[in-house]
Parts: sequence; C-alpha cells; structure tokens
Amino acid sequence: MRFLEREITLKDGRTCILRPNAPDLAEGMLEYLKKTSAETPFLLRNPDEVNYTLEGEKEILGRLLEDPYTIMMAAVVDGKIAGNGSISGIGEKRKIRHRCSLAIALYEEFWGLGIGTAMINYMTELAAQIGWHQVDLEVVVENEQAQALYRKCGFIKTGRRHNALLFDDGTYHDEILMYKNLK
Ligand SMILES: CC(C)(COP(=O)(O)OP(=O)(O)OC[C@H]1O[C@@H](n2cnc3c(N)ncnc32)[C@H](O)[C@@H]1OP(=O)(O)O)[C@@H](O)C(=O)NCCC(=O)NCCS
Repeated sequence: MRFLEREITLKDGRTCILRPNAPDLAEGMLEYLKKTSAETPFLLRNPDEVNYTLEGEKEILGRLLEDPYTIMMAAVVDGKIAGNGSISGIGEKRKIRHRCSLAIALYEEFWGLGIGTAMINYMTELAAQIGWHQVDLEVVVENEQAQALYRKCGFIKTGRRHNALLFDDGTYHDEILMYKNLK
C-alpha cells in the first residue's frame, strides 16, 4: 500500500526515511534478501533460497505497492536500503481476517540505532488504520534482540511452537508466539 514517508533521526545522528517499498528498490532488495539471510540464522529464508530475478522482484514490489492490505516498508539511510518490514493479512476467511502478521529485518550494520522501533510503531499504526484488530508474529526463542524490540513496542507472549524450525546444521529451534492488540 501507499503511505506517507516518515523521517526519523537515528541514535548516531543520521537521518532515515521510512517509505513504501517499490519497484525502484528492486535491485537493492535482491542484495538485501541474500545478505540479511546470511547475517542472521533467525530469518525463515536461507541465502540459497533467494532466487528472484530482477524483473520478478520489480513485479512483486509493484503489486504489493498497490495492494491496500499489504504494508511493505523500506528504511533508507544515505540513499541505501537499511532494512525492510512487512505486514500482511493472515487470510481471507471471515473467522481470521481480523488478524495480520508482521516481519522485519535490517542489515547488521544498522542494528541498535532505533530503526526497528520506529518501523514497528509506524507499521502497527498503519495496520490499525487498515482495520486489523491484532498483529501476530513468531520469533525464534534464541532471538533475544527481536523479542526485546517486540516487548518494547507492546507485543505480548502468548505461546511457543515446538521445533518450529530445522536449521541446516540439523538443530531444531522453538518459536515464541507474540501478538499486539490494535483496538
Ligand atoms: C530485530 C531487529 C529488527 C531489531 O531492530 P533494531 O533497529 O536493532 O532495534 P532498536 O534499535 O529499535 O532496539 C529496540 C530494542 O531492542 C533491544 N535491543 C537492541 N539491541 C539489543 C541486543 N543486542 N540485545 C538485546 N536487546 C537489544 C533494546 O531493548 C532496544 O530498546 P532501546 O533502544 O530502548 O534500548 C534487528 O536487530 C534485526 O534486523 N535483526 C535481524 C533480523 C531479525 O532477527 N528479525 C526478526 C525476526 S522475528
């Protein structure tokens, strides 16, 4: 969906723009998807699973930009992508269409500067405007940094999914389930 750009000042004094992700960022997004999935084990995608073409990525970003029920938010610092976050509906069926789901990842060099907090606060503000009642998310149990961010932004732990992820090294990892009420 389209939404207004928001400018924030980072803890190191730099300026960051939160803006709708769009086809003009497609090339940067391909690099972002590959690099962020290699920098942390806590994302669902492994680096070798990033197989989009530039044209395909442009098409996806263009479609999501016009989708009134999907938020794709890029954080841009000095003209380059620092991170991306998204919120999308869980499903169309009436019993679940009050819920949406959130994901976020930044390049490691931008961790700890306040971008995550600003993005989650802006994305949940937009999600409430769209009309969703709650935001759900899953986070790997060992990912304490992300859980601290979510708690700071008002998310509450509701449960735990056993052995939700199987890493390439053969280890299983539980996920913590969290949600934030938007009403
Ligand atoms: C998780 C992530 C999005 C956090 O974004 P961020 O911009 O670094 O977060 P912020 O700078 O806004 O910090 C938010 C809070 O997290 C906590 N935090 C920050 N760094 C931390 C660290 N190294 N360890 C523990 N908690 C930490 C602090 O409580 C901080 O609040 P404060 O600024 O009031 O001290 C970012 O680290 C990231 O992209 N990680 C890799 C991908 C990932 O794990 N995504 C989530 C998948 S569920």
